[in-house]
Amino acid sequence: MRKKKPLLMVESNVKITLLIIGALVTISFYYININNNKEEKAIRPVVIFDTSVYDSLEGCDLFSGKWVHDNDSYPLYKDSDCPYILGDYACGQYGRKDSKYQQWRWQPHACNLPRFDAKEALERLRGKRVIFIGDSVNRNQWVSMVCMLQAVIPLGRKKMQKIHGVSLFTFKAFDYNVSIDFYWAPLLVESNGDHPSKHRTKDRIVRINSIEKHATNWINADILVFNSYLWWRMPTVKILNGSFEDSTQYDIVDNHNGYKMVLKTWSDWLHSHINHTRTRSYFMSMTATHHKGVEWGMQDDQNCLNETEPIMKDEFWESGSDLKMLMILESSLNKLKTRGVNVQMMNITQLTQYRKDAHPSIHRLHYSPLTKEQLSNPSSYSDCTHWCLPGVPDVWNELLLAHILRKHI
Ligand SMILES: *[C@@H]1O[C@H](CO)[C@@H](O)[C@H](O)[C@H]1NC(C)=O
Ligand SMILES: *[C@@H]1O[C@H](CO)[C@@H](O)[C@H](O)[C@H]1NC(C)=O
Ligand SMILES: *[C@@H]1O[C@H](CO)[C@@H](O)[C@H](O)[C@H]1NC(C)=O
Ligand SMILES: *[C@@H]1O[C@H](CO)[C@@H](O)[C@H](O)[C@H]1NC(C)=O
Ligand SMILES: *[C@@H]1O[C@H](CO)[C@@H](O)[C@H](O)[C@H]1NC(C)=O
Ligand SMILES: *[C@@H]1O[C@H](CO)[C@@H](O)[C@H](O)[C@H]1NC(C)=O
Repeated sequence: MRKKKPLLMVESNVKITLLIIGALVTISFYYININNNKEEKAIRPVVIFDTSVYDSLEGCDLFSGKWVHDNDSYPLYKDSDCPYILGDYACGQYGRKDSKYQQWRWQPHACNLPRFDAKEALERLRGKRVIFIGDSVNRNQWVSMVCMLQAVIPLGRKKMQKIHGVSLFTFKAFDYNVSIDFYWAPLLVESNGDHPSKHRTKDRIVRINSIEKHATNWINADILVFNSYLWWRMPTVKILNGSFEDSTQYDIVDNHNGYKMVLKTWSDWLHSHINHTRTRSYFMSMTATHHKGVEWGMQDDQNCLNETEPIMKDEFWESGSDLKMLMILESSLNKLKTRGVNVQMMNITQLTQYRKDAHPSIHRLHYSPLTKEQLSNPSSYSDCTHWCLPGVPDVWNELLLAHILRKHI
C-alpha cells in the first residue's frame, strides 16, 4: 500500500470524491513542454528593481483589511492564458459565466500592497526554490502562483513536471533559475491519505511521528509554504504506532489533539533539519468554506452556489472554521519561535471568510460521473471549499510575496 502512485486525494466534507492529478495532468504537462529540454542553459541578465516598495510595508498588518472592487488591476491573468490550471479550479472553463469574483483587491487598513509585477517577482526570486507543501487548498495556491508568474515567460523557457516516484510537481522558469514546487502531504506526516487506492475518508490513519519520508524532499528549498487544515476537520483520527502493514495497533485521538501532535513532530523536524539562514518558512492559516447559506441570510439548503458578491459584513465568521485549530497552530508556531525558528503565519483566515462568491461550486471538473440525484440538486455537489482561478488564492500569493520580498532574501 505504500507503493508510489500518481497523486490522488479524497476530500471528506465536500462531497467531491477522487481528485486525480496523476496521469491526466502529467500528460498535459508533457504535451505542453514537449520541446523544452535542450534550452536550460542561458540565464538572462539580472535587472535591479526598486525594493523600497516592499520595504515600506514593514510593520503593516497585511491581514487586517477589506475587499475592494478593482477591475482595473484584476484579474492578474486570464484562465485561458494559463496552461497549468487544473480542472478543479478552472471555473470559467467549466461554465461559470460571471467574472466579478475575479476583480477584488485586498486593501489592508494600514498600507497599500504594491501592484503585482510578475517579472519583478521572478527577478527577486532568482535562483530560489519554493515548495508548497500540504493539501488541495495549498495546491490551489501553488497553481495560482504558477499562473501568476508564467504569463511573462515565453514558451520553451518554462516547464512543468511530475517527479517520478515522489509526490512532487515542479514548475521551472529557466531564465531565472526559479523552481515553484508542490509536494502533496495533506496531513504533513505519513498517512493513509498519501496513497491513492487504500484510502477511506471516514477512517483517517496517521503515523504521527513519521515525517522523514516526506520531509527529506523539502530540505533543499529556499522558501517553504505549509498548509494543513482541511483533512483535520473530522472528529477523530487514528494514530498508528507501527507500520501501515500492521494497522491493528492504533490509538484514537480527537482531531485537535492529533493536530497538536502532528505540529509537534513537524516543529521538531523543522528545528533540527532546516538551515534557517537559508530557508524561510511560512504557514498558511485555515481558509473558510461556505456550505451554510443561512449564515449570510439565505435559505437553509443553500450554499456558495450562485453567489456572485462577497459578504460585506465586517468580521463575518462562518461556523465551519474551527477557531481552536487556528489557536493550536498559533501556539505551535510561538513555541517554535522560542526555539529560535521563525515560521511566519500567513493569517488569511479572516479575509477568506468574506468570499462566498469565489468558490467553484458546480463549475469544475468532476472526477466521477454525477448521479441523477445529484444533478437534480446541484447544491449537493457544490465545491465550496476550493477557490476559482483567477481569484482569491492570487491574493494570498500577493501577500506571501509581500512578506518574502520585503526582507532581503
Ligand atoms: C488574524 O487576522 C485577523 C484579522 O486581522 C485578526 O482578527 C486575528 O486576530 C488574527 N489572528 C491571529 C491568530 O493572528
Ligand atoms: C468596472 O467596474 C465599474 C463599476 O465598479 C463598471 O462601471 C465598469 O463598466 C467596469 N469595467 C469593466 C471593463 O468591466
Ligand atoms: C540555480 O539555483 C540552484 C538553487 O536553487 C543553485 O544550486 C544553482 O547553482 C543555480 N544555477 C545557476 C545556473 O545559477
Ligand atoms: C502506542 O505507543 C504509545 C507510546 O509508546 C503507547 O503509550 C500506546 O499505548 C501505544 N498504543 C498502542 C495501541 O499500542
Ligand atoms: C546555512 O545557510 C547559509 C546561507 O546559505 C550558509 O552560509 C551556511 O553555511 C549554512 N549553514 C550550514 C550549517 O550549512
Ligand atoms: C442557481 O441559478 C440557476 C440559474 O439561474 C437556478 O436555476 C437555480 O435554481 C439556482 N440555484 C440556487 C440554489 O439558488
